[in-house]
Amino acid sequence: MARRRATGVTAKAARAVALVAVAALLTGCNEQQDSLAPRSHAASDIASLFWWMMGISWLGMGIVVCLMLFAWRKAHRRPGHETKEGEKLAFRIVIGAGIVFPIVLIATLFVISDIFVIKTTQAPAKSATRLTIRVIGHQWWWEVRYPGTAAVTANEIHIPVRTPVRLEVSTGDVIHSFWVPRLNRTIDTMPGKRNAIELYADAVGRYRGQCDEFCGLQHAHMGFYVFAEPQARFRSWLANMARPARSTAAQGRQVFMTSSCADCHAIRGTRASGDVGPDLTHVASRTTLAALTIPNDPAHLAHWITDSQSVKPGNQMPDMHLSGSQVHALVTYLDGLR
Ligand code: CUA
Repeated sequence: MARRRATGVTAKAARAVALVAVAALLTGCNEQQDSLAPRSHAASDIASLFWWMMGISWLGMGIVVCLMLFAWRKAHRRPGHETKEGEKLAFRIVIGAGIVFPIVLIATLFVISDIFVIKTTQAPAKSATRLTIRVIGHQWWWEVRYPGTAAVTANEIHIPVRTPVRLEVSTGDVIHSFWVPRLNRTIDTMPGKRNAIELYADAVGRYRGQCDEFCGLQHAHMGFYVFAEPQARFRSWLANMARPARSTAAQGRQVFMTSSCADCHAIRGTRASGDVGPDLTHVASRTTLAALTIPNDPAHLAHWITDSQSVKPGNQMPDMHLSGSQVHALVTYLDGLR
């Protein structure tokens, strides 16, 4: 009986270890969000610092293990033969390798990380860059604004490739943290404060970012994308974002304006100017909905409108009890907002 119970516990433990290993493997495979696959000078410096610290730590551990083996062997060979010289040497090793060396090493790493690496990750001065983007964290999505233009979007930030962008972050509610691991370090959004960081990408591509500060029930569903694009493509994207809406689906537009949709969302060029949820002026041009929770296609959009709480429990969107034909009309209208 006892043995069977023990076997059961061992099997359970083995299963847990296997699950953890698979999870670790899967997260390791997700190169999209891998800070050790940097695509900017700032992220490269952070990755180098990490590898240096890792290397030095392994070296330190190697030395400690060697000293332990050496001491163990010596004690076994001549038990009870400690000498005055031996004690003195041991004292010197403790002071030198145990106190002086770690202080010098940690101070050096502190200087390198705090003076050199932090500097390379900082936001460029306003006068040094042509583009500033403002990101506002909300429970649980990201508002994105391009000062100097009318463009407002959500959860998907477009930037020109190989261009230093000044990114200013703030919050509409609690503390969030903006992090694109392949591009730079994290930056917190603090109530009543505006923080800045550099956003820069070496190569054209899509980089996944994630809120990095626990901010409530749907913290994990607070992802975003940064799209780094060639200059011309970025300019035409921005020009389109700045334009008012052009969807011509009159029936769906009517549903939107007469239901509570218009109280919470803005669609520029219409009377809808709510600021509780994301700006929907060009919602159909985004690849995902609900901060990367679901893909942006008509089927998922319809599901989101009718039962958003099953997709992202705790979000602020209520069930508006729309009929099937109203939802269909609404989806047709929103799908035209490109
Ligand atoms: Cu926002 Cu976690």
